[in-house]
Amino acid sequence: MTGDPSSWDASMAFRELREQAPVQQVVLPGDLLAWLITGAAPARQALADPRLAHDMRRLPDPRQGFGGHRYPDDLFSAEGRHLLNSDGTDHHRLRTILAPLLSRTAAQRWKPFIARTCDELLDDLAAAARPDLVSDYARPLAVRVTGAILGIPAGAQQELSRLTLEMIRAVDPEHPTVRGRRTELFGLWARIVGHKRRRPGDDLLTRLTLARGQGRLSTAELLSVAWGLFSGGISPTTTLIASGAIAIMRSPELRRALRDEATAARLTEELLRLTSPFPASVWRFALDDVTLDDTVIPRGAVVLVALAAANRDPAVFPEPGTARLNRKGGHVSFGLGPHYCPGAPLARLLATAALTALFGRFPELRLDTAETALRRQGVLIESGYERVPVSTGPTAADAVTRTGPTAAKAATRTGPTAAMAATRTGGIVTKAAP
Ligand code: HEM
Repeated sequence: MTGDPSSWDASMAFRELREQAPVQQVVLPGDLLAWLITGAAPARQALADPRLAHDMRRLPDPRQGFGGHRYPDDLFSAEGRHLLNSDGTDHHRLRTILAPLLSRTAAQRWKPFIARTCDELLDDLAAAARPDLVSDYARPLAVRVTGAILGIPAGAQQELSRLTLEMIRAVDPEHPTVRGRRTELFGLWARIVGHKRRRPGDDLLTRLTLARGQGRLSTAELLSVAWGLFSGGISPTTTLIASGAIAIMRSPELRRALRDEATAARLTEELLRLTSPFPASVWRFALDDVTLDDTVIPRGAVVLVALAAANRDPAVFPEPGTARLNRKGGHVSFGLGPHYCPGAPLARLLATAALTALFGRFPELRLDTAETALRRQGVLIESGYERVPVSTGPTAADAVTRTGPTAAKAATRTGPTAAMAATRTGGIVTKAAP
């Protein structure tokens, strides 16, 4: 891939790589040699294989991981373990502390708060002089909801979000400015955790703080896990909502899918597959020789699973660039195996609610720029758009006022009918992505 990375279409590059070989060695920026997996079958196999570890300390020569720069520290770590750099009993110990507050049942409890927050932000979007779906809607929504679940005081959420995004986007984690930001970020986290100790609540940070008091995790682990939760929560969810909205703006059929709860949930699954918010940010370290798709990945190697490529493998997803609400094969956007995303129920709920509320309020929402003019943050780790300028058009309430009650009644009648027809025909098929 060459040229301006912010305008790359990674799906084309991934397709070419998969057609060459679904498992192959590549050179990444920084001259890091890695084994890239682009086929759906070897990706699923790799994600479930315990010999492909998260903890690079278990490599024969750990310094070779990430070019020797990020050991024993890594971007997400405050010198401690967190979920994504631990395996086995350590990973299980950390995961069991937070999992109950992210379960499906726990996520459902946030539905009213999510609906309220969507409404408030849509008011702001309607009032904005130059509405931007990312900064006026998707990101503040993800920050407020993730912040509330973690128990981060509202006054600290903005600053935390700013520092988090700077860190995620840092090109060189070892650059002095980035190291300075990291110190700032973990200083802020330490203050937030101190505040939580004095004022406990029914939230994830309180749970982590109590677990630390019981000796179940260290202070460094607490800070690392908390930051991993916050950054892991806001960044992909923002991408899913903004990129999902773009796909829906392209297609009247997808807009209609949002009118029915069941088809809206299926649409979210297809948007997860098509947008793959973490395109290729899943790393593993080979503790042994591992054979994937007849290719031997040698012990000590770094493995990169391209979830976005696996999600568009035509062997599992016929016409992979097309949104189909009746697909059988499951996507791997949330990973697989013991590290499967614990935030998946929340992310699904939040994205479905956000998109339903957005298009419910602004049925004629459209891009206020050419789609080719949109720019992405990155390609492999965070592929979200920088800005998505939109024109909101009339609200649903405006349309009712303009057309009078008879037309409104007709609209109510035709809505469910169209949705039911879509369900009967086995789902909607539409070209959703280039
Ligand atoms: C669309 C939204 C999201 C996507 C696409 C996503 C994707 C993923 C993926 C692919 C992994 C597995 C990484 C691996 O195996 O190496 C993961 C793990 C994780 N995610 Fe998410 N995630 C999303 C939202 C969230 C949210 C909302 C939270 C929490 C509030 C969250 C918290 C986590 C945590 C803590 C892990 C580490 C789990 C472990 O290692 O056991 N994620 N996520």
